[in-house]
Amino acid sequence: MAKITWSELLSVGNEEIDNQHKRWIEIFNTSHDKMMSCDYSLLSRIGIDALKQMMEYVQMHFEFEENYMQQINYPALLEHKLQHEFFKLQLDKINQDFENGISKLNSEIIKLIENWLIGHIQKEDQKYKTFIAALGNKDDNKPDL
Ligand SMILES: [Fe+2]
Repeated sequence: MAKITWSELLSVGNEEIDNQHKRWIEIFNTSHDKMMSCDYSLLSRIGIDALKQMMEYVQMHFEFEENYMQQINYPALLEHKLQHEFFKLQLDKINQDFENGISKLNSEIIKLIENWLIGHIQKEDQKYKTFIAALGNKDDNKPDL
């Protein structure tokens, strides 16, 4: 199971959001490393801590990104927000299972988070970049960002 590497291909054309995505990937990679190197008996605690950190970061990041999309009058904002909500619910559920001792951090969960994170940045977040680019090509109505 590989770690995630940020590349220019993932850039959404906004420096602050790119930096937040890099930090989010870093949080993911750290959790990944801890899971791979720790003793089985510590997985439960590590899983709870990793999830807590990711949930906090994601909450802040999604809010920032949603505000940005609102500022640029991004037409698919609602749809994008729903995807954020869906991911937060997934993290919530995993967290509850950890807290209740139903499951521990494992490669399946790491893979699920990895797929969502990378898929979302690569596919969904790129859509607002394309939207901004199209605005710039059309006329001078590009918002002041
Ligand atoms: Fe997003």
